[in-house]
Amino acid sequence: MRAGISVRGNEKDVLAEKCLIDQCNCFRQAEVAKLGKGAGLRILFLAILGFESLPLHHHVVSFMKGLAVITGASGGIGKEIARILASEGYDLVIAARSEGKLRELSEELSSAHHISITEVAADLSTEEGRKALFDMTQQTPDILVNNAGFGDYGPFADCPWEKQDEMIRLNMLALSHITHHFLPDMISAGSGRILNVASVAAFEPGPLMSVYYASKAYVLSLSEALTVELKGTGVTVTALCPGPVNTGFSKAANAEDVSLFKKSSGADAAKVAEFAVRKMHKGKPIAVYGMLFKVSLFFVKILPRALVRRLIYRIQKSRTR
Ligand SMILES: NC(=O)c1ccc[n+]([C@@H]2O[C@H](COP(=O)([O-])OP(=O)(O)OC[C@H]3O[C@@H](n4cnc5c(N)ncnc54)[C@H](OP(=O)(O)O)[C@@H]3O)[C@@H](O)[C@H]2O)c1
Repeated sequence: MRAGISVRGNEKDVLAEKCLIDQCNCFRQAEVAKLGKGAGLRILFLAILGFESLPLHHHVVSFMKGLAVITGASGGIGKEIARILASEGYDLVIAARSEGKLRELSEELSSAHHISITEVAADLSTEEGRKALFDMTQQTPDILVNNAGFGDYGPFADCPWEKQDEMIRLNMLALSHITHHFLPDMISAGSGRILNVASVAAFEPGPLMSVYYASKAYVLSLSEALTVELKGTGVTVTALCPGPVNTGFSKAANAEDVSLFKKSSGADAAKVAEFAVRKMHKGKPIAVYGMLFKVSLFFVKILPRALVRRLIYRIQKSRTR
């Protein structure tokens, strides 16, 4: 657990930036509908008049796209999602514990895409860490990506309790709290996309990674329930369900020698991220990555549960050495 929390905004004073973006969003929500034909040109004209003292490209991009908040953006799937959303013109709030990695990503993306990026280096499994994220995200996000998460490999009784406790707090509590914090404003705004990173592990019990599988079942169940509650609000929730992906996940889970996480058979994080963003924009409730997993989930549904449990145990037990 990290004691320190650090927050940093690039390019210019973060509060001034937020005010400007808020103005843009208010304008967009209240006025765009009234403008009708030729709205694009008139918006551009007003943007030039209103914000002439600041670089035009920056504000046109912010204005057109809005803000994406991404947790766990310092590596793996979250970093690739950040790269895609930056290339689409979204301003970003990126959160994770590794301050240096967030800084590197911020420098890469802000110079390549002329967007505003706020880095929040914080442990999101703690109240304090989530408060830092909320404090630095005063604008309503157009996109919320709940991606931060990790697993732990081994028999439940042998796994250190502190790690299970942190996993439960990050994978379930933090995801729920962050969603609950931003959702009312997204509903009021009448639009928004939430992408919750679950896993194919969400569909079955996972002996030898029992808490992790259970935590992803929670993410899937919560996400599916919200899709029904949010119908007609303009806000959608997508649960991303990939199989093994080549990221820092297996190392963090102490599962590097588990056959399931063999690098040669894992999916590419950039491809998974591209798939996830596409499904999220479409507002798909569940996005299972890869034909193999779509087929295997079909069998999970039709096979007896006792058999599924044993099969997963076998798969999880197999080691590369
Ligand atoms: N890779 C797979 O095989 C796989 C398959 C299905 C689902 N998933 C899910 O995909 C998501 C992303 O994982 P990944 O595969 O990309 O693994 P990863 O490379 O280890 O990325 C995990 C991200 O979460 C962040 N994180 C971890 N603990 C955190 C904490 N306490 N507070 C804030 N941020 C924290 C990490 O950053 P810091 O270390 O800098 O904090 C990192 O940015 C997870 O939810 C995972 O369960 C992964």
